[in-house]
Order: sequence, then C-alpha cells, then structure tokens
Amino acid sequence: MSDNKPQTVYRKDYQKPDYQVDEVDLDFDIHDDITHVTSVMNIHSEHDRSGNVKPLVLDGDELNLVSLKINGKTLKPEDYILDDKFLTIPNPPEKFKLEVKTDVKQKENTQLQGLYDSDGIICTKCETEGFRRITFFPDRPDVMAKYTTTIRADKEKLPVMLSNGNFKEEGELEDGRHYSKWVDPHPKPSYLFAVVAGKLDHVKDNFKTMSGKDVSLNIYCEKGKGDKCDYAMDSLKRSMKWDEEKFGREYDLDIFNIVAVSKFNSGACENKSLNVFNDALVLANPETATDANYKKIESVVGHEYFHNWTGNRVTIKQWHDLSLKEGFTVYRDQEFSSDERSRAVQRIQDVSDLRAGQFPEDAGPSAHPIRPDSYISVRNIYTGTVYEKGAEVIRMQERLLGKEKFRKGTDLYFKRHDGKAITCDDFVKAMEDANSVDLAQFKRWYSQAGTPDVTAKGKYDAKTKTYELTLSQKTPATPDQPIKKDFVIPVEVGLLDKNGKDMPLDIEGKTSKVLKLTKSTQTFKFENVEEPPVLSANRGFTAPVNMNIEYSDKEYAHLMAHDSDLFNRWDAGQQYATKNMLQMVKDIQKGKEPKPDESYIKAIGSYLKDDKLDKEFVAEAMVLPSEKYIADQMDVIDVDAIHKARGVMQKAISVELKDELLASYEKNQTLGEYSYDTESMGKRGVKNTSLAYLSKNDEPKLQKMMVNQYYSAKNMTDRDSAIRFVVNSDSPKRKEILDDFYNRYKDESLVVDKWLSMQAVAPRADTLDKVKELMNHEGFAMDNPNKVRSLIGAFSAGNPVCFHAKDGSGYEFLADQMIKLDKINPQVAAKMLTPLSRWKKLDPERQELMKKQLTRIINDPELSSNSYEVVSKSLAMAKDDKVKGFAKDGDVKGFVSGNKGTGELAHSNEKIGKISIVKQAKQKSNMADLIPRRKMGR
Ligand code: PHE
Ligand code: ZN
Repeated sequence: MSDNKPQTVYRKDYQKPDYQVDEVDLDFDIHDDITHVTSVMNIHSEHDRSGNVKPLVLDGDELNLVSLKINGKTLKPEDYILDDKFLTIPNPPEKFKLEVKTDVKQKENTQLQGLYDSDGIICTKCETEGFRRITFFPDRPDVMAKYTTTIRADKEKLPVMLSNGNFKEEGELEDGRHYSKWVDPHPKPSYLFAVVAGKLDHVKDNFKTMSGKDVSLNIYCEKGKGDKCDYAMDSLKRSMKWDEEKFGREYDLDIFNIVAVSKFNSGACENKSLNVFNDALVLANPETATDANYKKIESVVGHEYFHNWTGNRVTIKQWHDLSLKEGFTVYRDQEFSSDERSRAVQRIQDVSDLRAGQFPEDAGPSAHPIRPDSYISVRNIYTGTVYEKGAEVIRMQERLLGKEKFRKGTDLYFKRHDGKAITCDDFVKAMEDANSVDLAQFKRWYSQAGTPDVTAKGKYDAKTKTYELTLSQKTPATPDQPIKKDFVIPVEVGLLDKNGKDMPLDIEGKTSKVLKLTKSTQTFKFENVEEPPVLSANRGFTAPVNMNIEYSDKEYAHLMAHDSDLFNRWDAGQQYATKNMLQMVKDIQKGKEPKPDESYIKAIGSYLKDDKLDKEFVAEAMVLPSEKYIADQMDVIDVDAIHKARGVMQKAISVELKDELLASYEKNQTLGEYSYDTESMGKRGVKNTSLAYLSKNDEPKLQKMMVNQYYSAKNMTDRDSAIRFVVNSDSPKRKEILDDFYNRYKDESLVVDKWLSMQAVAPRADTLDKVKELMNHEGFAMDNPNKVRSLIGAFSAGNPVCFHAKDGSGYEFLADQMIKLDKINPQVAAKMLTPLSRWKKLDPERQELMKKQLTRIINDPELSSNSYEVVSKSLAMAKDDKVKGFAKDGDVKGFVSGNKGTGELAHSNEKIGKISIVKQAKQKSNMADLIPRRKMGR
C-alpha cells in the first residue's frame, strides 16, 4: 500500500531515470462525459540489467486504468502493482512497446489540472504534474519523448481539435465524428504536452522567419470573442522578431497556436507550439481592457513564446532547476518589454513587483534560494524568488559580462544544450566557457537565500579632491542558512554635482560605473572630484539588494530632481516618501498630528510641470509607496496607522498641488481614437493619477470630475480609473455608477472581474458584507479561478484595512471560503491562503485571531495536501518561535484524533487522512509559507 504522506524531494537525491520513453502515440477519443485515452509508448531501459532489472514505475493521479499491454500482450492484474500514485511493472523487457488505456472524466475535473472542461472547451494543463492525470507516464522533465497525437470527437460539438507539433491530417469518422492528427518532431517532457478541442473563434496571421520559413500563427478563443485577439497576435509577431534579433532564436515548426480559455489556474502555459492561456491575458479591446492589461498581454505572450527556446528546446533536469527556464524567460520578457517601451519605466515596474512579492518572501520563514534544495509540493516552488529574483540573477550576469559577452554565453548555451534536460550549473558554465571567466563566487546567488543589505558610505576630501566610497554587504540569516558567504554584487554608481549634473568618473569622461563588490567591505576611490558629490548608487537596480544610504531630505530632493538615471530618480522619491510616512505612522501612534513633508510634495509638483519628462515615468513617480511596502519596512505592522498616514499624505498632495493637478489633468487628455503607444499610455497615466489625487479633495467641483470622466470615458482605462476613485469615495453617485458599470458590461466576463475586485478592495466599513453578498451574485462562480481571485483574492491580498479588521472577521471569512474552495480546486485555495499565514509581523491580538483560523482549517479532515502544507508550515513557525497560545504538537494530534476520520488514507493524492497529518506535524518545515506567485504567466 502506498504511503500518502507528502515527501520532501531533495535536489541532491536526483537519480537519472531507469527507463526512457522514445516515442508516444496518444489517442484521445472524446465523448460528452468521458474521454478514452490510449497511449502507446516505445520504452527502453537505461540501467545496467546484468545484476538486477529495475521495475518500471509510472506516475498516475486519480486515473482509471482500463487495460495494459506489453508488446501486444495484455497484462494480468498479478503482472503489475497499482496504487493511488504509481503503476509499477516489476520486470519489464529491455526494449518494448507499452500500451495503456485510461478513462478520464474531464467534466468532473474541478482542479483544472490534467484534462478538463473550461466552459465547453476541452483542454489540458500538464505543468507541473498534470500529465499523470491523463495517463500513466514517467512524469518528470528529464524524460523527453516524441509525441504523435490523434484526437477524435463529435464534429459539431468540438469542431476545432489541436495538439502539439505540426498538423498532419484530418478526416471524417462515423456517427458525425471526426479526427485530427498532430506530429511533434521535437522531443519534449510530458509537462509540455497539450490537447484542445472546442467550438472556437479564431484569428490568423503568419510570420516569415529569419531563414525565410513561413509559420502560420493562430489565436483561438471562445465563440464571439475573436475580435479581441488582435493585440495578442501583434505581440506574438513582435516577440518572434525580437527573439531572432536579440538572441538569434528562430521558430522551429510550421505552426504556432495560442488558445485562450476562461478557466485556468495560472496565467498561461508554454506547451510546445500550443500555448494555453488564461483568457484575461489574451483578450483585449479598448472598451474592455486597460493600458495595464495591454502591457501584461504583451509581456506574457512574449514570455510564453520565449519559452520555446528557454524551457522547451533546452529544458530542466529536475524541478529544483525551475529557475533555469523561468528566471531566464522572465529576464527575456522584461528585456522585450524594455525594448518595445520605456526601459526605465519597465525597470521601475519590475523592481516594484520584486519588492512587493519577492523581498518579503526572502525575509520570511519561506526564504529559499532561486534554486531550492528541496520541496514538498512542487507547485510551491513557483515563487517570486524562482521567477523574479531568478531574472535578476541572469541580469547581473549580463551586467558583469557586458551585452556582447553575455550573448556569446547564450549562443554557446543554446548550441551546447539543444534537445537536452539540464541544470542551472550548465547555464553558468556556458557563460564561463564562452568568455573564459570564473563565476564560482557569483554562483552563490543560486544557493543562498535572503536579500543582501548593502551599505554605502562616502567620504569627500576637499584637499585631495578624492571621494572614497565604502560599500559593505551583509545578508541576514534565513531558515537553514544561518551564515552567509559574500556575494558578488554589481553596483552601478554615479556622482552628482551641486547643479545635479553627472560628474566624470574617469579620464574618458564616463559618468556611470559598475563597481564589483565581492568582499564584506570594500573601498573604491574616485579622483579629481571637484566638489562634494551626491551619490547615486545601484543605478537601474543593478543588484537585487536593499541599499542603505543615509540621505538628508535635501539630498533626496536633489536626486529626485536631477538624477540622470531615471530609475534612481524614481527610487529617491519612493525612499523619501517612505521615510516620511514611517515618521507619520510614529506620530499617529503617539497621538500626534502627522505631518507630510513639504519638499517631497514640491518635488512631485515639479514633475507635473516638467514637459520634457517621460509621461509614463511621471505617472509612476506620482504614486506613493503602497501600504504593503510601508508595512514591510516596519517591525510590527500597524495597518490602520499606515492607512491613515498614506491618506493624509494623499490629501496634502491633492490640496497643495491642486492647480498643478488640474492643469496636468487638462493637458494630458488623449483625444481621438484609443492608441496603446507609450506616449498615449503615459498621458493617460498622468491624467488618471492626477484625477486620483483630485478625488481625495472634498471640493464638490473636484468630486464631480471623476463622475464626469466615468460617464464620458471613451476607453476602459479612463472608465476603470474613474469608477475606482468613485468606489473608494463616499460619493452619492457610488451606487448608481456601480450599477451602471455592471449593466454595461455584464456580458463581458473579464470586465465583471474588474467590477468584483474594485468593490473588494474598497477600504470601507461595509466592504466585507458587500463581498459576502457578491458571492451569491450571478457574476461570481466559485469554480472559476479568475472570479475567485477577483473577489476573495482581491479582498484578502489587496485590502489590508478590511482584511485585518480588529474583530478578525476578515480572517474568518477567508478561512470559511478556503475550506470550501479546497474541495473544488486545492491549488488555487493553497495559494490564496498566503495572507492568512503571514501573521508574524502583526500585533499579538491579530496574531491570535489568525492562528485561530489556521487551526480551524487544519482541523478539516478532508484538507488537501496543498493547503495543508501552507497552513502547517505557518503554524510550525509559531511553534519554533514559542509564540504563546499556539497549538503545540500534541494539540495538532488532538485535533486530528478528535475528528470523525477512520484512520484510513483518502484515495486521491490531493487528500490526506489523519495518519499523514500526524506524521507531517512532526516534520519541521524549512520552507514555510511559500507563496506560489507569478506576476502572470505562472
Ligand atoms: N510555466 C508557466 C509560465 O511561467 C507557468 C505555469 C506554472 C503554468 C504552473 C502551469 C503550471 O509561463
Ligand atoms: Zn514561464
């Protein structure tokens, strides 16, 4: 009998597969309620069989085995062992044909992993371990086979049928059925397999590759939505061109398909030549999508396309190396967007994401290196660390080597590893070998967790006209890694004179320099420095570190006004505002009047008046650091004081800069047809951020502006901004406008999602009641992840004031809903539990309230292993910390044995019974509270 306890999988335990699959011939016979799957595999043994023959172990999850044949001969039940995780054939031949028939009920699959039905479209999601929910297979990335797929279905109900590779043939069958056959010549891991069948709308185009081959491009979506696929198509073509120009990567098949579905657990998946997308990342037109939606579509379409080389042609050996494909591909999509749009603004947005999502992870109990040494649930390593920090680690190699050498490294990488499953070490080795450099110390970025603190101290000597800059690094301890070795940290610096001009740093007159910090402390000397400079450090965010520099308010303002590095100009404003708001929080706590800083407000005012500045930059620079960011800078978070401080600051800006805001609102109108070029997006950004501030001003005339913009808006960007300000205000028009919005867009599911989330994030006393009411609204559905994320997810992750309500009602609500959702879609439930598991920096009362809910959840005898992992690790952290009041080991056992459980293990491997809970409770977690997070795509 199998042991259902989720096991820790260690990177060091890697063993190469005992059997390889060379070819797979799959047949999907799709019927209304059931799909008969036949898989014929050519398998050969890869181990030394002279001593003993190893068993063939195939993965399977919730599968119904119909028959099993080796070389045409049916196996009898005594010839194999079947349990709820594996199909084991003890003594197979050296080389053989294995035929497996399984039945899959796609409509009953609410987990949306494997083969499922998304509102009538039959589709698959195999990454990470979904293929084993379709058929028995060695479901690991280093088993790479060539796939042929035949799909059969009713012609009327499912007219379009797609799979990976090139289209081979199609034809009619009896009883109104038809078939379609696909051949993928490139060996691939099972996680890249896909099948789609449905009634679909379709846009098509084509692309000529750099060697002159024609590729047919198609984007499919639900019926009636075909008019919203043009931007995704445009993004796809630009991605293909960009990859040829920047990385020399050409597409390798006759066809490339994207399918957009409405029910999808993540953002998108890069299945070979058949990318499946959450339709929120494909569908757009000016009436339904905002500028932010357009940008995201471009970057995710690019991301998934770029995976064709970084992930598919060159793939990973084991999941621990996930960052090999994800970090590199995020780097590539960020570079793509930077080349297509404003590089500085892209950098600002990417770093904001990194700071919001990854820094807290790196500072918490779930800290793990970009290449984790172990995991329990593989889905839990889809984190900001693996993705976004992974991208920074690639970018640092580019910065250290320079663009040309970096390209030499990637060329060698692709040449050397094409068609193989490899590791992160192989990537760095290619960089080293192509350029004859030694990156041994740099590689610590792959193995050490934690965000380094880098301190910069400057000393100017007027006599010798030298400036000495001392940089030191220190990385805080993380779970299981108490002592950190020094990293290699590239820090780009510049020096500003009193007029804000960059000073020359060498005889050639260069004004920026990448310093290489390799020790715990190093001093760098600059000569011929004519006057005391203001330091601009970590320009463009060269390294993913926390920079500590003690600036005076005057120096902050100087950098905000003059730094030639736009990223650092923005960051000076962010740090300045944060410093100010943290002081305001302290004042509020002491019962004093909080006082916004005048010179910060003035600096924002001069951005508004500066016509030469990039508009998108101005829009970013006007936005105050988020409540969450401010909270991350505090030892004990005071949600209410932060909210209040930020509100006071917004109000001060709205009052003091009223004239500038009004002028900028007028000046940045975009008349005429909607266009998504950078300039227009920038104008809309500045205009709407100006309106956001004006909406904080109580003057009736200003209050009317947002209402007017709502009704007169010609595109979703303007309408969505306006309604959000109304919804966050006490405007008497609030209800009228919310109703109007719903009635206009009730047939646009993705716009209804916006409507749900704007109500969920409103910091109002009645928000939770409203959210509860919306759970019964026709626009909500618990079995659709987009709906759940838009309502429940937005409330718990995007509304700190209401979620952390003092009476614990927010926590209780999330627990109630996740206990329900866990039965439907455990993957999504587990991810959404994250806000509840992060109690550590809250006040003792709230900590208790959160832990009470966590305890309730863990008491659910039917809890999935996904959710169990998140909750148990969070509670284990309390135990480690000896926080009083926490359920001790014995308590956990007590809860479990008090349950109705019979002591037997549940059958699905998503479920765990009482025995495994007791066992797991003893397991000390080293990666507690993992958040599988992805800006999108993941
Ligand atoms: N590999 C996908 C991406 O990054 C994300 C994904 C994660 C898809 C998990 C499916 C499952 O683009
Ligand atoms: Zn990816």
